[in-house]
Amino acid sequence: MRIDIVSIFPEYLDPLRLSLVGKAVDAGLVNLGVHDLRSFAHDRHRTVDDTPYGGGPGMVMSPVPWGEALDQIAGAHPGERIDGGTMTGGGVRPLLVVPTPSGERFTQSVAQQWSDEPWLVLACGRYEGIDTRVIEHYAGRSDWAGVREVSVGDYVLAGGEAAALVIVEAVVRLIPGVLGNAASVADDSFAAGSMERLLEGPVYTKPAEWRGIDVPEILMSGHHGRIAAWRAEQAHARTREHRPDLLG
Ligand code: ADE
Repeated sequence: MRIDIVSIFPEYLDPLRLSLVGKAVDAGLVNLGVHDLRSFAHDRHRTVDDTPYGGGPGMVMSPVPWGEALDQIAGAHPGERIDGGTMTGGGVRPLLVVPTPSGERFTQSVAQQWSDEPWLVLACGRYEGIDTRVIEHYAGRSDWAGVREVSVGDYVLAGGEAAALVIVEAVVRLIPGVLGNAASVADDSFAAGSMERLLEGPVYTKPAEWRGIDVPEILMSGHHGRIAAWRAEQAHARTREHRPDLLG
């Protein structure tokens, strides 16, 4: 998968060189590009924002540098595909992902869908957001795979960068070959399957007793059937307590 991220704070994305995503990049499973939006501005101050039409507080990001950045990025890697899949027609088309608190909810199932995409381009907005014509324009472009505006939760961040870190990590860990143990993905909270929409239950490791607290007997019984039943029960209890909305 190719992933490009555009931001006025490219260093904000440096953590993607670490840990699981960093390893996926090193292993060649992900081709990551981070781009400074300001390098697509033309004035001396490298301005990327302006006052909102209609008035109101704050500034809006100009469509001009965004259009130039996205066109250049899309043109720089035509037809690139690093996952071994076959190209069709005009080659691989990027999906434009715009993190915004006014987007649809980014969920595990969206992460699962996107882990199959050949190319994601994330556009990180700041201030009051990006001029809406950018969304409209790329949604209508046949050389792009579409536009998805997504929110990572019901709170407002200072910009799209922290959300982009969340989205990229959630997607990349689902790419086949990235996680050592594929079974751990199936057990995740929110994973599709038998425990769908349940939170993952409690976990324990050695020592068997720590500060007076024992590991539950059942986990040391070696009885796989009973352990599975206990875990399901725990998952239900945790979901009832922390996220009753998931149980309907
Ligand atoms: N940008 C600001 N807040 C956000 C959120 N909650 N989700 C995604 N992008 C954002």
